[in-house]
Amino acid sequence: MMYTTGRRVRFSLFGTSHGPCVGCVLEGMPKGMPVDEMRIAEDMELRRPKKGIGTPRREEDRVGILQGVQDGKTDGTPILLAIDNSDTDGSKYLRFARTPRPGHADLPALAKFPGYDIRGGGQFSGRLTAPIVAAGSIAKQLIRRSGIEVSAFSRSIGGIIDDGERSITDASGSGAFATRACTEELDATMEREIISASSDGDSVGGVVECITTGLPIGFGGIWFEALDSEIAGAVFSIPACKGVEFGRGFGLAGMRGSESNDPFFVKNGIKCKTNNMGGILGGMSDGAPMVFRAVFKPTPSIAKPQRTVDIETMKNAEVSVEGRHDPCIVPRAVSVVEAVTALVLADQMMRDPGRSV
Ligand SMILES: Cc1cc2nc3c(=O)[nH]c(=O)nc-3n(C[C@H](O)[C@H](O)[C@H](O)COP(=O)(O)O)c2cc1C
Repeated sequence: MMYTTGRRVRFSLFGTSHGPCVGCVLEGMPKGMPVDEMRIAEDMELRRPKKGIGTPRREEDRVGILQGVQDGKTDGTPILLAIDNSDTDGSKYLRFARTPRPGHADLPALAKFPGYDIRGGGQFSGRLTAPIVAAGSIAKQLIRRSGIEVSAFSRSIGGIIDDGERSITDASGSGAFATRACTEELDATMEREIISASSDGDSVGGVVECITTGLPIGFGGIWFEALDSEIAGAVFSIPACKGVEFGRGFGLAGMRGSESNDPFFVKNGIKCKTNNMGGILGGMSDGAPMVFRAVFKPTPSIAKPQRTVDIETMKNAEVSVEGRHDPCIVPRAVSVVEAVTALVLADQMMRDPGRSV
């Protein structure tokens, strides 16, 4: 089974955590576009778990481009990407088929899919975000040709909140830090927050912020093709995402229109004085950077014992998770948020290529 999104640039995802591979098909990219495999490898490296704060599962994450790219350029056919799963130890997961983990997809998945392969979280695993990042990297290469850049960073992890003003340069600099924080100091405190939760057998969540620059005024669509609507849909599809807000988001509820409206002024074209709307008006870019935040819940798999049920005996039970898992999803979700955003932007751009350049 493949899971598909997009209209002109269509992205289809396949695989499971402990099957032979995970991968995707990317259709609708323009023919003859150079594809830089080094950039794909760099993006994949940023998604990989970091020692001490990520899952101990070690995967090489080498992306095989099996079709669609010849001599470094797209050939106009669907691009097929595959990534091997090699470090698979499914033994610790089998008991969740009887005692589903609270917070994970086990219970509804067992009810919905007869014979569901629960190892590693099956098709609900964060492992499936590897091909998303690979395809997103190609989408970034397409939109960059029109001057559009996407970068995300960790705005908060657990109780540690970055309250600084951040630009796209800060966001892209977060690649230097394991937590994807914007500064060395925040990286150290966020790392301590993750380690402290994990040494208690627990986990933490947090907020990813994503900034996109270079969108011309009018880029996007309306109603069900609105830029914010499509991006929110794509970001909500990332496992563990529980909320998305653009600009001041929920904070707008307490503001007056005179405070929240972003006034226009003229300086080398039309500009916005503030960016409370996160760069979107009517589903289209208003020319300001597009800024949104996504909240990721604390990782459901934790070592601490939790209440559950035994679905064979239909009695109350307890479960604790000894398998390998990320004590915090946020640093790895940063790359995935960038990738889905780039995929939506590439799709929107190819739907109306005249408007976006
Ligand atoms: C990059 C990434 C890594 C993840 N790693 C884990 C993990 O190690 N353990 C875990 O329980 N959940 C992990 N998750 C979250 C689960 O996949 C997710 O919570 C689960 O599928 C239930 O979906 P929902 O949280 O969207 O309801 C990860 C998610 C992402 C995006």
